[in-house]
Amino acid sequence: MNILAIESSCDETAAAVVADGRRVISSVVNTQIAEHIKYGGVVPEIASRRHVTNISSVVKAALYDAGLTMRDIDAVGVTYAPGLIGALLVGVNFAKGLSYSYQKPLVATHHIRSHVAANYIAHPELEPPFICLIASGSHSHIVHVEDYTKYKILGRTRDDAAGEAFDKAARILGLPYPGGVHMDSLSKTGDPDTIHFPKVHFKDSPYDFSFSGVKTAIINHVHKLEQKGLEIPRADIAASFTEAVCGVLTDNLMAAATAHGVSKVVMAGGVCANSQLREKLSRECDVRGIALYMPPKELCTDNAAMVGSQSYYEYISGSRAPLSLNGRSAATIE
Ligand code: KG4
Ligand code: ZN
Repeated sequence: MNILAIESSCDETAAAVVADGRRVISSVVNTQIAEHIKYGGVVPEIASRRHVTNISSVVKAALYDAGLTMRDIDAVGVTYAPGLIGALLVGVNFAKGLSYSYQKPLVATHHIRSHVAANYIAHPELEPPFICLIASGSHSHIVHVEDYTKYKILGRTRDDAAGEAFDKAARILGLPYPGGVHMDSLSKTGDPDTIHFPKVHFKDSPYDFSFSGVKTAIINHVHKLEQKGLEIPRADIAASFTEAVCGVLTDNLMAAATAHGVSKVVMAGGVCANSQLREKLSRECDVRGIALYMPPKELCTDNAAMVGSQSYYEYISGSRAPLSLNGRSAATIE
């Protein structure tokens, strides 16, 4: 079964054709980073306008690369939530137009579910149940994925998402947007033991996160050095910050895996492209004899192949969206 998938929840306009939820026939990602970089972050209005300009050619390119036409497509899958509302609406309306004019079923897919599904593409043998760490620009969750469309949130961030913290830290260190990837490279040349940034754990809910403290701590640390006219050891600060954030992500995921007695854990979302996090989790899982699944870096960040995968599982579980489908800026994964 071929699904044409569309993603436009943030600053990537993407389309893909995916067969049976697992095989990517084509995947096109048009990123707007160059447009937003001068503002130091995504400008929602610009994102929406660029999606409008790009979406038709991105979808055409995905079909062209697949060597298929709409006649070969069995359903249209689209990200309907969560994300920037103006951005989401472009993908949702384009998908509705295709669904109506070609009489193809429409499937509305949750963006964070799709991040999890990136792993179904990368690991054909992977099936639920498993415990998943989802760390993106706007979400930090530990989720029990009981089935392809059944989720239970075990832990969540109480304030900022991990990606948001990385982006803010990067900005304070003078790195360009989106900061996570630049923090990743800079911290490779630094010493993670130089500064002990706070690692927050909650006794009452051991899988929850809080990243606002570490975010404030890095801002204060850099400001103090600036005020004293001292040199800023950017690589050491980046490495210490990365150690604090990735340490908490790893601790909580390992605690959840142990408490639930699972044999496999999964990583998903943009922050899971982080090299230190990947290494740290690999080591911790090895020690415990837990199998760790992670997507290749290009499937960690936003793309439509993951939407095609999840849309397939939504479709076979009976989900069909009406032509009155609307975008939603917020929606739980559960
Ligand atoms: O999942 P994603 O592409 O978009 C959302 O759905 O939010 O995640 C984007 C986030 C950004 O905050 C970005 O800085 C972060 O993922 N990110 C990273 C890395 N690559 C992307 N954070 C840390 N290390 C990376 N290598
Ligand atoms: Zn995303």
